[in-house]
Amino acid sequence: MKDKICLITGANSGIGFETAKSLCEKGATLILVCRSLEKAKKAIDEIKTAIPGAIALPAFADLASQTDIRKMAAQINAEYPKLDVLINNAGSWFSEVELTEDGIERQWAINHLAPFLLTHLLLPLLVKSDDPRVITVSSDSHFHGKIHFEDVNLLKNYHGLRAYAQSKLANVLFTLEFERRKDDLPISTYAVQPGLVKTDIGVKHTISFHAIMWKLRRLGGVSPQKGAETSIFLASDKDVSKLSGKYWDKCQPKSPSKNAVNEGDAANLWELSLKMCGIDDFFTGI
Ligand SMILES: NC(=O)c1ccc[n+]([C@@H]2O[C@H](COP(=O)([O-])OP(=O)(O)OC[C@H]3O[C@@H](n4cnc5c(N)ncnc54)[C@H](OP(=O)(O)O)[C@@H]3O)[C@@H](O)[C@H]2O)c1
Repeated sequence: MKDKICLITGANSGIGFETAKSLCEKGATLILVCRSLEKAKKAIDEIKTAIPGAIALPAFADLASQTDIRKMAAQINAEYPKLDVLINNAGSWFSEVELTEDGIERQWAINHLAPFLLTHLLLPLLVKSDDPRVITVSSDSHFHGKIHFEDVNLLKNYHGLRAYAQSKLANVLFTLEFERRKDDLPISTYAVQPGLVKTDIGVKHTISFHAIMWKLRRLGGVSPQKGAETSIFLASDKDVSKLSGKYWDKCQPKSPSKNAVNEGDAANLWELSLKMCGIDDFFTGI
């Protein structure tokens, strides 16, 4: 991975941290997107202590804010000569419904629209790589998901699990639709299922009942290092770009849900996401 530049969101903890650390170990330059200097510094110090000589640099954005995402992407576009790998890893889980400053339900904003918008904004840098890859961390929770086009913010019927499953289904629909729409753009795209992983995702923004349920559920999970393996494989394997536009689990392609291969829903979701992010043409500016 020497000479490769990778950007990963949600890099200060869990699966994202382990992915960043391992890619640094392989010699890549890592840009760690975090919400604060404090979180980025802690993660970078830990990586540099474990891997002397690691090149790990911070970038800042609250991915619930489209203004923040645009500001951060503009800085990355200005500061770096190319981007080889974009890993849309950040994700969140909220028990309670609340809208972001953009008027969007938080899981929809962070888990789906942030990857959609960030990928669009970083296309000009990605096309400067000779083997650009976009990896979006989804979940097998998407098998329980449905896109509620009539109420995507789920204001009429919110449940944290419903919102999570919807957003993770959107990750797979986005990846597959990107593949269909990209024409001769040489960017590979992958959606990833990391497995059930022992992280704090289910305790950060949840009511105590949900936090207890998550703590019990994750007892059966794998370590964050293990959960990061498929993202690391897709970022670093020499030949995997031939297998673009698929859903991956345990470093192998796997069939996603029936809803994830619904091309009508994928096209509708694409249009809705453009509108919700204020983008005219996803592939413009390349
Ligand atoms: N754990 C599992 O069993 C599992 C299973 C399937 C899929 N996944 C997916 O794996 C990915 C990583 O999750 P994880 O389990 O490793 O959980 P995690 O340790 O909580 O990591 C999530 C990361 O996303 C960041 N993040 C969340 N909201 C953000 C925001 N608004 N702005 C910027 N960064 C934000 C978090 O930052 P903060 O620390 O600042 O919150 C954290 O760095 C997620 O996409 C998740 O859906 C996890």
